[in-house]
Amino acid sequence: MQPGAGPMLASCRIIELPKISDPRGNLTAIENGRHVPFDIRRVYYLYDVPGGESRGGHAHKQLEQLIIAVSGSFDVVLDDGYEQKRFFLNRSYYGLYVSRMVWRELKNFSSGSVCLVLASEPYDEADYYRDHAAFLEAVSRSSQGAP
Ligand code: TYD
Repeated sequence: MQPGAGPMLASCRIIELPKISDPRGNLTAIENGRHVPFDIRRVYYLYDVPGGESRGGHAHKQLEQLIIAVSGSFDVVLDDGYEQKRFFLNRSYYGLYVSRMVWRELKNFSSGSVCLVLASEPYDEADYYRDHAAFLEAVSRSSQGAP
């Protein structure tokens, strides 16, 4: 694999969400078809993550996600088999778009943090690569034009 090629990682990016500032507290709203580059078909959140624990450790064949630190902070390390990129999420109005075929690790959760995830598909275990070697093999196969 060539370093720097990173075809899937190139589309992963921070999306700034609307923030309605108010002395009473801020508000962020997310509308389907407006703020997220896919149809939202599932929402889940991670919370009560013990110190030192990491989440993720997998990639998805088709699933796209937007990852938001609605409270606290954490790191998201993305890897598309060509290159790696680390994002530090610590604002409730920033979402990290993660495309399909990107390995992700979520780590360094601050105490009390909450990770909200918007996803393009319902949960489907068959959509996961949970084995890193199998993921790299699939990336390599697709770079050679195989399905
Ligand atoms: P997993 O996707 O491995 O969690 P993370 O990537 O956040 O570390 O999922 C952990 C468990 O939860 C696994 O048994 C599948 C289950 N799960 C669901 O039932 N529905 C869901 O929407 C998700 C994301 C996970």
